[in-house]
Amino acid sequence: MCPPDLCELVKRHLYCSIALERLVAEALSLFSEKLRGFDSYAQLILAAIAIESERHAEILEMLAKELNLYNEYSNCREFVGEPWRAVETMSEELKSGREASYAELLERQKWVEEALGEETYHKILLPLVSGTAREQCIESNASEAFKDILDKVVEDEKFHEQAVKEVMQRLIKRSTESGSDHPIPIP
Ligand SMILES: [Fe+2]
Ligand SMILES: [Fe+2]
Repeated sequence: MCPPDLCELVKRHLYCSIALERLVAEALSLFSEKLRGFDSYAQLILAAIAIESERHAEILEMLAKELNLYNEYSNCREFVGEPWRAVETMSEELKSGREASYAELLERQKWVEEALGEETYHKILLPLVSGTAREQCIESNASEAFKDILDKVVEDEKFHEQAVKEVMQRLIKRSTESGSDHPIPIP
């Protein structure tokens, strides 16, 4: 019999990871659109990361449903904490039309990508899923597949982190060259 607390914790982590990936996808699409016509490198890279984030959400949702670990929760903002708020702030700043520092927003996003990959997926979610397999809540073959899929997702997160850093450095360079206080003119 699966310990209810463990099961509940895995479900919550999975659901909130799915929700956070979707929040990232939405925010980065918005960011990408803001850069259209200004810097196509930055625009395309952020659009690609947005698509991959949505795919991660789909993959995690598929795994959660297939393994009977899917449940919906309403308090992911509190559960996830700082990374959630960082992405939320990025969206709000982009929507507000204020002259946000794009480099600062990207710096925080870089941190979110790092937090999602190694910290959340490898150090928290994976041990939790292995734990459910040990307790025989899910079969060991399914747990192995989960691990291999999650390893691939973590590799993607490393790329996201590097790519966001590259975009940030390019925007800072352009801003320095143009002598502007802000990385880009706000559309
Ligand atoms: Fe992701
Ligand atoms: Fe990511």
